[in-house]
Amino acid sequence: MPAAKSSPTQTPSPTLPASLQRVVLTGFMGAGKTSVGRILADVLGWEFLDLDTHLERRAGASIADLFAQHGEPHFRRLESSALANALARPRTILALGGGTPEQLTNRLLLEQTPGTLIIFLDAPFETLFDRCMLQSFASPDHIRPVLASPIEAEARFQARQPLYRRLARHTVETASLSPEEAAQQILSRLQR
Ligand code: S3P
Repeated sequence: MPAAKSSPTQTPSPTLPASLQRVVLTGFMGAGKTSVGRILADVLGWEFLDLDTHLERRAGASIADLFAQHGEPHFRRLESSALANALARPRTILALGGGTPEQLTNRLLLEQTPGTLIIFLDAPFETLFDRCMLQSFASPDHIRPVLASPIEAEARFQARQPLYRRLARHTVETASLSPEEAAQQILSRLQR
């Protein structure tokens, strides 16, 4: 009899610590937070939540429009409120926005919510910027206002690196990994 083909649904879910309620992915734009998060949620049978999408649904407006009409400080307030709401959900993989850890309020929310494990997806700025450019060609509607100036984007990257590192329990270097490989590395760390 031929061997049964394995599929993601047939793979047994990894055993996770009982206290773990959410895995939060942080890192700069283009780090793979959304694509890796979707794979993780699929394997674990958990909910996937992208903070940007959650915020846009709550606000009834796109991030690009929120930045253009009300400015970045207004967007950041909506982001904090969306984060507080998202952190109430159990069994969730949450992909943050690249700038979410900049606000002290957000870092405190993340650190003080029990059952939360934070993973930093890291890569060099050049790799991340290239990935974002490719994504913008593939989906022109997905606009990232903070990438308008590459010089300012790199300054944000430099300022955020220590915040991502301090916040996260684990760092995964994604420059040479596919989203599936990055998800696999995370899964093996979750079970340790
Ligand atoms: C931002 C990153 C974006 C989004 C917004 C601002 C940032 O999220 O929240 O455009 O300041 O880095 P992604 O990292 O998911 O692109």
